[in-house]
Amino acid sequence: MLQIAIAGDLHDQWDHSDHAVLEDIRPDALLVVGDLSDGRTRIPGLLRQLRLPLACVLGNHDTGRDSSGGRLRHQLDLLGDLHCGWSLRTLTPPGLAVVGGRPATAGGGHHLSQAATAVFGPVDLEDSARRIERAALAADPALPLVLLAHCGPTGLGSEARDPCGRDWKRQPCDWGDHDLALALERIRARRPVPLVVFGHMHHTLRRQQGERITFLRDRRGTAYLNAACVPRHGEDEHGRPLRHFSWIHLGQEGVERASHRWYGLGGELLYEELLWCAAPRQVPPSLRAEVLDFSPQSSSSIPSPPVLERC
Ligand SMILES: [Fe+2]
Repeated sequence: MLQIAIAGDLHDQWDHSDHAVLEDIRPDALLVVGDLSDGRTRIPGLLRQLRLPLACVLGNHDTGRDSSGGRLRHQLDLLGDLHCGWSLRTLTPPGLAVVGGRPATAGGGHHLSQAATAVFGPVDLEDSARRIERAALAADPALPLVLLAHCGPTGLGSEARDPCGRDWKRQPCDWGDHDLALALERIRARRPVPLVVFGHMHHTLRRQQGERITFLRDRRGTAYLNAACVPRHGEDEHGRPLRHFSWIHLGQEGVERASHRWYGLGGELLYEELLWCAAPRQVPPSLRAEVLDFSPQSSSSIPSPPVLERC
């Protein structure tokens, strides 16, 4: 059983307090879904200091609105092999294959910004999907495979509160990435993909539309987790500082437990929102509504109100 911590869109909220929490809670691996800041180099430098298995992919904000691609390139240089956009990063230990989606995506199907084009050249939808697919099929089939992307795939629903639903305009739509969905379908024809993690679409919806659905699991056993709890630094009603990580238990049969967690600065787990548990008979009746099943064919999903548990 692997325990994986996921840091959602950081938006500059990452410092040594997060490192101290990680020292205490000791996940087997840390995944970072991008939007570290607006193109600054402070956080890539910090991530390089971490002494735990780590994979990262950059997001649209990481271009820093620099259309020359200079800021994006500088961060990629700093991150080095921690960054797995369009590539495979094998974490041993603990024994986990991570393949990154298209770097610097802003979602919405397939679009390369000027900055991304300056760094990577023109990459069309088919090329992008093929890069992801090729990296995934190069992974050791004995290792569980996680797709790590800044924006999730299309097909997770078209309502504003769906994991990749557009919430900032009056007309909601599926704002997922088409190349990632295409790659996922092709990879799953050859090997299982137990988990896809992403961010970009923040949990609190714009225009006072409530909270986003952040976890789905399809009939083929792939779990989809949106980790973009923004801001991820906060404090509770008692003034205690909180640090957010999404948390996954990944076993032989896929994702066995998924939650959002808020830790105190000493690494104590203060709050947990349970998203999924693979053994529903062990879940208290009050939480059973959160065990979701979802068919990508119908694009329907069962909304579930978050339950915040005091731990
Ligand atoms: Fe983003």
